[in-house]
Amino acid sequence: MLMKKISRRSFLAAMAVLAASGLSGCAGSADNGLQIIRIGHNQSTNHPTHTGLLAFESFIEEKLGDKYDVQIFPSELLGSQNEMVQLTQTGAITFCVASNSLLETFSQNYTLFNLPYLFSSAEAYHAAMDDPEVVGPIFESTKQAGFEAVTWLDAGTRNFYTIKTPINTLADLKGLKIRVQQSPTNVRMMDLLGGSATPMGFGDVYTALQAQMLDGAENNELALTDNGHGDVCKYYSYTMHQMIPDILIGNLGFMEDLSAEERAIFDEGFEIVNQTQRDAWGDAVEAAKDKAQNEQGVNFIYPDITPFQEAVAPMHEEMLAQYPDLAPIYERIQAYNAEYEA
Ligand code: GCU
Repeated sequence: MLMKKISRRSFLAAMAVLAASGLSGCAGSADNGLQIIRIGHNQSTNHPTHTGLLAFESFIEEKLGDKYDVQIFPSELLGSQNEMVQLTQTGAITFCVASNSLLETFSQNYTLFNLPYLFSSAEAYHAAMDDPEVVGPIFESTKQAGFEAVTWLDAGTRNFYTIKTPINTLADLKGLKIRVQQSPTNVRMMDLLGGSATPMGFGDVYTALQAQMLDGAENNELALTDNGHGDVCKYYSYTMHQMIPDILIGNLGFMEDLSAEERAIFDEGFEIVNQTQRDAWGDAVEAAKDKAQNEQGVNFIYPDITPFQEAVAPMHEEMLAQYPDLAPIYERIQAYNAEYEA
């Protein structure tokens, strides 16, 4: 099992939360004898992901409430995403939401969905992510790392946002220190775009922006409002460079211990998280744009994206050369791109 180092501070913080909820060991059970299902994520309670997970909680407790108690821990209460993935590997927590970006360091197959400009439109992205022949082999591949990917969640389109320098052209990115997610693909992308990649966990970005240790970051619109990044960064530029899904992952031991009947109910629950989160996404983005523009004073910029696309285009060939097994899935995505053009 591939394990990474969890910082002592975060581990202790996570354990304190788990202990406070009466659950310091693995596979916790509550005083009432119910088995606790702990789900961690790094978004606020306003975020569509939290709404989706609340729907999951209601559904599982309605169907299997005599056996399970679902508890959701938002806002990095259980640690950063990287740390939550490791807690899910060991079974200290049952599920967590992780960006696909981070999962590429647990299984290289996930690299595919992190490629810049992989999908031609949101429709192509959704159709591909809904296709078991696209996601199946990728989701299966983290079982060797002790967890199973059970569904995907929308995380919109990633765009650059900056404190002082509006990104109107590719040249504007040159030399800027931009926070990226901790993945080799994102570092390579920034190198090709001419910026200086600064990988860090999501929860540290606000402080780093505020201290001007960064010139900017990149994310969907909700980061401006929900995470306050729009308080510091006043230029949001629609480079639309990535559509990176979030993935709900479950501890493999837990998943394998479910009976066939329970598994069918959980599968229905995963579908409910996906649909509820997706249904809430569009309105959440609109509300975030409105608030960013009217309350935070963020300027939205619509650059010509062709030079950005051209700069990172070699990454597609590089990925196919490095991971030839992913070629059939890549081709299947191209068929969706042709069907649902930008
Ligand atoms: C998005 C995504 C998160 C991720 C974050 C990041 O908010 O939904 O899963 O952690 O981006 O940039 O780290």
